[in-house]
Amino acid sequence: MEMFRIAGGTRLAGSIRVEGSKNAALPILAASVAITGNVQLEQVPKLQDVTTMSTLLQGMGVSIARGHDNTVVMNSNEITSTIAPYELVRQMRAGICVLGPLLARFGTATVALPGGCKIGHRPVDLHLQGLSALGADIRIESGNIVASARQLRGCELDLLGSHGPTVTGTCNVMVAAALAQGTTVIRNAAREPEVADLARFLNSAGANIEGQGTSVIEIQGVEQLGPVHHTIIADRIEAATLAIAAAITGGSILIENAPTEHMQSVLDILREIGVLLKQSSDGLHVSAAGQLAPVVADINPYPGFPTDVQAQLMALLTLVPGESRVTDNVFPERFMHAAELIRMGADIDVRGKSAVIRGVPSLSAAPVMASDLRASAALVLAGIAAKGVTEIRRVYHLYRGYQQFDSKLNSLGARILRVDDGPDQDSVPIPAPHWDIRNVRESCD
Ligand code: UD1
Repeated sequence: MEMFRIAGGTRLAGSIRVEGSKNAALPILAASVAITGNVQLEQVPKLQDVTTMSTLLQGMGVSIARGHDNTVVMNSNEITSTIAPYELVRQMRAGICVLGPLLARFGTATVALPGGCKIGHRPVDLHLQGLSALGADIRIESGNIVASARQLRGCELDLLGSHGPTVTGTCNVMVAAALAQGTTVIRNAAREPEVADLARFLNSAGANIEGQGTSVIEIQGVEQLGPVHHTIIADRIEAATLAIAAAITGGSILIENAPTEHMQSVLDILREIGVLLKQSSDGLHVSAAGQLAPVVADINPYPGFPTDVQAQLMALLTLVPGESRVTDNVFPERFMHAAELIRMGADIDVRGKSAVIRGVPSLSAAPVMASDLRASAALVLAGIAAKGVTEIRRVYHLYRGYQQFDSKLNSLGARILRVDDGPDQDSVPIPAPHWDIRNVRESCD
């Protein structure tokens, strides 16, 4: 098992390019099973989650070839199975994204019900309600969602949950509705740019979707989706993480391919903190030289500040003088990183869905444990800013969502070494009846 050994205290400088978006790529790859003919995708990031999704799709008979420059060509004309097994879905919750596409094209799908997750309670009730409203018959059998439908029919439906709209739920229902008979109106649809990218992809394949990017999406069903060539949008979460990396080290970097049009809430908070941001035709210039100021940040569905950047923001705020407050309204329990940051000298109080962070003059290196993808990124940022050598275990979470994160940061001046730490004792399966789900290598966002 690999860990990161980080010699902290360097100022980041230079330029770096953002990859394609993980959260746009996964639902688009999944939606490809609903398409007859070739699907050609550009800017597909090289990530563990993309590999897991590819393995899932190949198991169903999808042919997938990866070319140079992050191009992927897929074909789903010879599907042999409509089953997404637990073994893969538990590694990546986005496996649920095949449910709507399979159901729409083949009238049947068996998808393992995703289990517990480190970032909070994550039901999929809205996905199932939405597909039921389209006429699917859905049962839970032996831990699987078993869905079938002779003909999906368009309808009006609402996808608002107690923590706001659902991103992958909107994706599932949108793909199913694209091949349903008649018109579907999704109210309280997720407005995330990744949902809009999926809609653009489907429209290029012949779908008829309007309103993507707003909370009301209208879909006229078509009989078939055909060949498509699409470029995945750039990753706003990776861009935000890199911007915070510059800020936390008092550095100055240029982020090429940053999708600033999708990053307004992040840029607003960084400006309020005192980070200098300048957009040019080359990309987003980020620097932090002077005194930084505390903020109150509310995490909300898009266009709000993204929950997937909450941990990284918290890492930065640990070093901002004064008292900041972060409230996560999307995943109210997503604070596993706080305890690890406290081990590095941070002053953080978690109170319900809020964390109060009082800035300290410096962080000190410590051995810490990554609990999920974005928590891992936050610990890396804390490590490059801390005094001394930080060791981060379980960095495999990072490989799920950041392409070459360590080498990219090293090219900006960070000093991160991958070290083989031997087997992770905690992830060695324990025989029943002592099986503890918390020790399984599952994935979250
Ligand atoms: C997606 C993103 C993830 C991000 C999250 C929130 C992907 C692959 N993952 O996850 O990175 O952190 O959006 O921006 O795109 N909920 C329900 N019932 C449901 C579904 C969700 O109550 O059926 C709740 C969730 O528990 C959560 C909130 O709604 O509190 C938002 O979750 P959702 O948008 O569905 O997250 P994902 O689509 O799983």
